[in-house]
Amino acid sequence: MSPLKDKSFRIEGIYRKGGNGMNNRVWVFDTTLRDGEQSPGVSLNTQEKLDIARQLQKLGVDIIEAGFPIASVGDFEAVKLVAQNVKGAAIAGLARTSFDDIDRAWEAIKYAEQARIHTFIATSDIHLKHKLKLTREQVLEAAVAAVKHAKKYTSDVEFSAEDSFRSDLDFLCQVVEAVISAGATTVNIPDTVGYATPVEYGEFIRDIIAKVPNVDKTIISVHCHNDLGMAVANSLAAVTNGARQVECTINGIGERAGNASLEEVVMAIYTRNKFYDVYTNINKEEIYRTSRLVSSLTGMKVQPNKAIVGKNAFAHESGIHQDGVLKERSTYEIMNPKMIGLNINNIVLGKHSGRHAIKDRLLELGYNLSNEEIDKTFVKFKALTDKKKEFKDEDLIAIVENEVLTVPETYKLEYLHISSGTRMIPTATVRLERNGEMVEEAACGDGPVDAIYKAIDKLTGMSCTLHQYNINAVTGGKDALGEVTVKIQPNGGNKKVYLGRGVSTDVLEASAKAYLNAGNKIAFAQMEDGGMDQEPKSGV
Ligand code: KIV
Ligand code: ZN
Repeated sequence: MSPLKDKSFRIEGIYRKGGNGMNNRVWVFDTTLRDGEQSPGVSLNTQEKLDIARQLQKLGVDIIEAGFPIASVGDFEAVKLVAQNVKGAAIAGLARTSFDDIDRAWEAIKYAEQARIHTFIATSDIHLKHKLKLTREQVLEAAVAAVKHAKKYTSDVEFSAEDSFRSDLDFLCQVVEAVISAGATTVNIPDTVGYATPVEYGEFIRDIIAKVPNVDKTIISVHCHNDLGMAVANSLAAVTNGARQVECTINGIGERAGNASLEEVVMAIYTRNKFYDVYTNINKEEIYRTSRLVSSLTGMKVQPNKAIVGKNAFAHESGIHQDGVLKERSTYEIMNPKMIGLNINNIVLGKHSGRHAIKDRLLELGYNLSNEEIDKTFVKFKALTDKKKEFKDEDLIAIVENEVLTVPETYKLEYLHISSGTRMIPTATVRLERNGEMVEEAACGDGPVDAIYKAIDKLTGMSCTLHQYNINAVTGGKDALGEVTVKIQPNGGNKKVYLGRGVSTDVLEASAKAYLNAGNKIAFAQMEDGGMDQEPKSGV
């Protein structure tokens, strides 16, 4: 049931203390677009945020934290767009306790079916002394005032006591009690710096629930960072001790070592249901697809051995294991990959495959594309089958994610010629289609990629710093597709970093495409908001 329809979510005290009366629904609060976007080097444009939010809606998350509206014009617009377009989940906007923050958050989220203001202030003495320079009394006052102010806009108000786990327990309980009295319907107890261990954190949550007299009027939420690799374990320990909202991100991305990973929390609760005795409303079959989308749009690769969504999570290498799984899956598999929407399919697509086969395979992989997008994919697929004999699912996904589901192509690579060798200066000639017109330039560089990028800079007028260049083979074999990822930052303007990706059997062509893809995103951002993103006023 959607949180909008579940009365307990909106009106009554959702959390019922301990024992038999305990509500066993766990609310999933996704912060991929806010804390996840705070991952170093990640920057999503408005359209990409909307695409992720739409996918989160399909995944069935209860609350989508769409951003921090006062941080920048871009953040504000993205939160507003998500609030206007994504239904079926509550949309949250983050705000510090200042009224300006709260007003701005409300302006962005007010269009949502259910709008949540998420306001926060730190409660640990370390933060009070060194960061806020406030006394405990002042923090308590600010927290209560913020919740009351937010309540004027919406009944759904969440309060977070930043750095809760390193806060004095009695003071924290005093704040929690006061914000609940002020109307907070969810109170979040973050382990902001990932310092907790599961047993301690579980006890900490249990103590808060035991000590705060009005706790039954709210949902206790947890938000764990992964600095010691324990974010998921800590979140689950909190759930066993009465927390009923878990804040997490897809693929566990986030500030520093990241946040608790949504897919791990959800699948642990599901797979070990008898132990946890709680449930979530997540559509598990959408997990793999969501993970791929987030990885592709953020440029943050999922490590191969990552639980649930890593490339190797369901791969059996040893002969003994393979033999066991073939005889009976449960010998070495505790989850069926189909549960997370992963259809392991090794049927090979090749140059004789038609448009229909591509369309069917894309649907199986969870890509419900428009006819135009299928045509575009098919043309790119056909062009590559001359150079590459066999296509696997990963190859197809790479084409779709890198070359089809992306911003409009202001600049399109038409032709590339490179002269390079051990005893010559690398030179590149690049021809682009720029808004329908053919333009060509040549440049020399320190290496062939540098020469290509210099020629593109001349053609596009871009002046950028290249922060990252990565090259990967999508699948094995000599004719593997090379996938290049770049991160570039326009010089002079805002501090935004743009991710570009390109694929080709020729790695230099993939390099050119990746750079142009990032360039097209810059051009698109300039069209969208005049490239006017302001600097964040404050990080979280
Ligand atoms: O880590 C943290 O404490 C946060 C809060 C703003 C919830 O991200
Ligand atoms: Zn956080």
